[in-house]
Amino acid sequence: MGLYAKHIFPRLMDGIMRGKEFQRLREGLLKSAEGEVLEIGLGTGLNLAYYPPRVLHLHAVDPAPLLSERVAKRRAAVPFPVEIMYLSAERLPYDDGVFDYVVSTWTLCTIPDPQAALREVRRVLTPTGHFLFLEHGRSDDARTAAWQDRLNPIQNVIGCGCNLNRRIDQLISKAGLHIEHLDRFVMEGVPRIGGELYRGVATPNRTDVSAPPETDGR
Ligand SMILES: C[S@@+](CC[C@H](N)C(=O)[O-])C[C@H]1O[C@@H](n2cnc3c(N)ncnc32)[C@H](O)[C@@H]1O
Repeated sequence: MGLYAKHIFPRLMDGIMRGKEFQRLREGLLKSAEGEVLEIGLGTGLNLAYYPPRVLHLHAVDPAPLLSERVAKRRAAVPFPVEIMYLSAERLPYDDGVFDYVVSTWTLCTIPDPQAALREVRRVLTPTGHFLFLEHGRSDDARTAAWQDRLNPIQNVIGCGCNLNRRIDQLISKAGLHIEHLDRFVMEGVPRIGGELYRGVATPNRTDVSAPPETDGR
């Protein structure tokens, strides 16, 4: 990892993503989590404060240990055990069907193979489990989407692999998860190209996904 990715980007990200509106959205998403929970893309641990005490055990993965001291502080303030593994979500080291909830916030934009990660999410959820997601992605507005496509190469560099133009809902469905609920809105205080949010809940669809429908999921 280079100097920018290791020291500068995590501080920038942590500073921006602990803003008031981010906090409000994190709290709203996570309030229903309970039992055995997995978070993919822990980052600097900004979700930790918003998990309710009904969570029994939190597992978290991220390929990069980002701002370890801040993560340790946030982890110490949580009333349940938190186990962190530094690895990619595309290959999870858990048995099938073990998590009641899997959580992803502002992470599917960055995972190099989001489809593989989402197939893993589906695999590790219990048959009655829930995938909670809060992600930014491709706009439904053609002009905004065109700007997202244009600016994506730059965002990829300054956002350490972040993409502006992924169709999050299509990626989720294509991985064999069933979207039970989806909110689409533009986040307050964030430029539209990065503020087009996909917030929702998906469940493991146990029907065959060997031949998923063709989509423009990017
Ligand atoms: C924009 S940050 C969001 C962090 C955190 N989820 C939050 O809401 O503050 C994106 C995160 O995705 C992580 N990430 C990148 N590739 C990943 C992968 N293959 N598997 C899991 N996480 C990954 C990055 O290391 C980073 O922590």
